[in-house]
Amino acid sequence: MTTALVIGASRGIGLELVRQYRRDGWRVIATARKQEDCDALAALGAEPHKLDVNNVEAVAGIGWKLDGEELDVAILNAGVYGPRHDGFPTEIDFNAVMHTNVLAAMRLLPVLAPLVGAAKGKLAVLSSRMGSLSERSSPAGSLYRASKAALNSVLIDTALVHGKQGVTCVAFHPGWVKTDMGGADADITPEQSAAGIRSTLATLPGSDQATYRNYDGTTIGW
Ligand SMILES: NC(=O)c1ccc[n+]([C@@H]2O[C@H](COP(=O)([O-])OP(=O)(O)OC[C@H]3O[C@@H](n4cnc5c(N)ncnc54)[C@H](OP(=O)(O)O)[C@@H]3O)[C@@H](O)[C@H]2O)c1
Repeated sequence: MTTALVIGASRGIGLELVRQYRRDGWRVIATARKQEDCDALAALGAEPHKLDVNNVEAVAGIGWKLDGEELDVAILNAGVYGPRHDGFPTEIDFNAVMHTNVLAAMRLLPVLAPLVGAAKGKLAVLSSRMGSLSERSSPAGSLYRASKAALNSVLIDTALVHGKQGVTCVAFHPGWVKTDMGGADADITPEQSAAGIRSTLATLPGSDQATYRNYDGTTIGW
């Protein structure tokens, strides 16, 4: 049976990815940081694990719990936007955004990559077009942009280390999505975003080079 792992699946795009993979009969392992969200994931037929991606012991624990798994798809979805203003960032804001969006990836991707390699699968991170250095035309959301650019860097390094073992690494822009983060005025629904991400993952050829994709499969420049 094909297996997907979604890290950060309590709501928004992550939860919708779980719903759609389950609907299509996949085995789904999913993480959330609250027990009630784990219970809701179990009710969808997923195998839940409690995980705050900023808790280093919990990250080590998830590596231990997933030992021996072969993951066809692993998606690191958990992320935060941080402050909505573009003023001087506080150290607290900086640490919260960089720890969740970058440090957690530096800890989790080396744990997940061998499990994805065992299935010659796809390892995806939810980045953002805002992290692109080459396609940037606005400085708004500078801290979030810096975090997603750094996340992309971590993913490219992951492909350099694990690509030759059959891990195909993808950074996604999920679209501007109607979630708590994207807001009600966003362009697309979580259903549309998750469907595009899943279809792109299903059709993407295996590669040892990291790639940066919009949810509809089109390439974004790093
Ligand atoms: N929505 C958009 O338009 C958009 C655009 C570009 C990129 N993205 C990216 O897409 C991803 C999902 O976004 P979304 O719109 O679905 O956001 P969302 O509705 O705000 O959901 C964020 C998810 O991340 C989880 N999370 C945050 N901090 C965590 C932590 N320390 N440990 C574990 N989980 C944590 C949240 O869990 P809790 O419920 O426990 O807080 C929640 O499941 C994010 O990485 C985001 O940056 C979104």
